[in-house]
Amino acid sequence: MPSPRKPTAIHPDLESVLLDADQIRRRVKALGRALKRVYRDEEFTVVAIMNGAILFTADLLREVDNPVRLDCIRISSYGAATESRGIPKLIHGLTLDVADRHVLIVDDILDTGKTLSLLASMIGGLKPKSVRVCVLLDKEGRRQVPFEADLVGFKIPDKFVVGYGLDFAERYRNLTCIGVLRPDRQSSAAGKPG
Ligand code: IMP
Ligand code: MG
Repeated sequence: MPSPRKPTAIHPDLESVLLDADQIRRRVKALGRALKRVYRDEEFTVVAIMNGAILFTADLLREVDNPVRLDCIRISSYGAATESRGIPKLIHGLTLDVADRHVLIVDDILDTGKTLSLLASMIGGLKPKSVRVCVLLDKEGRRQVPFEADLVGFKIPDKFVVGYGLDFAERYRNLTCIGVLRPDRQSSAAGKPG
């Protein structure tokens, strides 16, 4: 006989859970239906921004039955800090050709807007058929450059969040929920093991 399910304990480094696994699953399914309305049965090329967008992209793509091509790029990130530093740098670029293709850029979170505005204009210069952006989270109040995504999972307040792909110093990406990191865990020292 299966044992009764224990209530899932909140991770000790989280101040609160913003979105639980069920809320994320339902919203990702809805985003999949939205993608279907946008692209109908056409092929599109997904450009996922590593590492943060990997979990979201994997779940999102399984919600559509379109032919899709997948490419992953890497852009310099925060390192062990919770504030973005300077101009984002492309560390690993596109492998696929996107000329004359529908391109969907997927990221975990839209924050200052620097990363996605840079990437969208870079891809726009490669003569794609279209460029759209889908993000799971949008911290609207934090924008430093004007940028809006075409598809947004959740608008969230200005809190540093981790889980479901999002990290602090490369940790917490594997949490099934998205939670607010406790302020006393938001220092480089807290990010180090031991
Ligand atoms: P932007 O260029 O400031 O919009 O930064 C976007 C990138 O910053 C995202 O792809 C994330 O990697 C990272 N980021 C922004 N806010 C958070 C957060 O609350 N938690 C974890 N990573 C974040
Ligand atoms: Mg990222």
